[in-house]
Amino acid sequence: MTKTTAGGGDGPGGLSREALIERMIRVDHAGEYGAVRIYAGQMAVLKGTGSEKVIAEMAEQEREHLAAFDTLVADRKVRPTALAPLWHAAGFALGAATALMGEKAAMACTVAVEEVIDEHYKGQAEKLGEDETDLRETIEKFRADEIGHRDEALAQGAEQASGYRLLSETIKAGSRLAIWLSERI
Ligand SMILES: [Fe+2]
Ligand SMILES: [Fe+2]
Repeated sequence: MTKTTAGGGDGPGGLSREALIERMIRVDHAGEYGAVRIYAGQMAVLKGTGSEKVIAEMAEQEREHLAAFDTLVADRKVRPTALAPLWHAAGFALGAATALMGEKAAMACTVAVEEVIDEHYKGQAEKLGEDETDLRETIEKFRADEIGHRDEALAQGAEQASGYRLLSETIKAGSRLAIWLSERI
């Protein structure tokens, strides 16, 4: 069996291994930034309610995730997404808008986003080999945290939000689009 990879990549669209890893770090950095902004938007509305503590705990973990990807972007000289200003505004708006719909809608937002991120991190971890064990372990740890956020939001009654299914599908579609864009731009 001869399979040459010299001069060409084996990633999607013929991306080199290096470009593939760079793309992973770019999109994860963008995603964790978006997550921080979503929780900031929720906190702006829900401070002082029964959801404050749960949201604050999730937000704290998102800041840790973002800090880790800040370091990876700097150490590996990855070009950050040019869409950061968009995620700054859109993340906050998504968090605030769902929070204004109520505490359960805010939790529904978390479930939808985290389900998409769970799939996303799972797919990335599967693509990383022994040459990238540190990055893979980071992604697997963060994935476990995101699953924890989803479970906590479900425990807080996310599925009881009115219009749950439509809200969830809309947020998931937006999250997948944000991932697609942040990998490329
Ligand atoms: Fe995160
Ligand atoms: Fe999260």
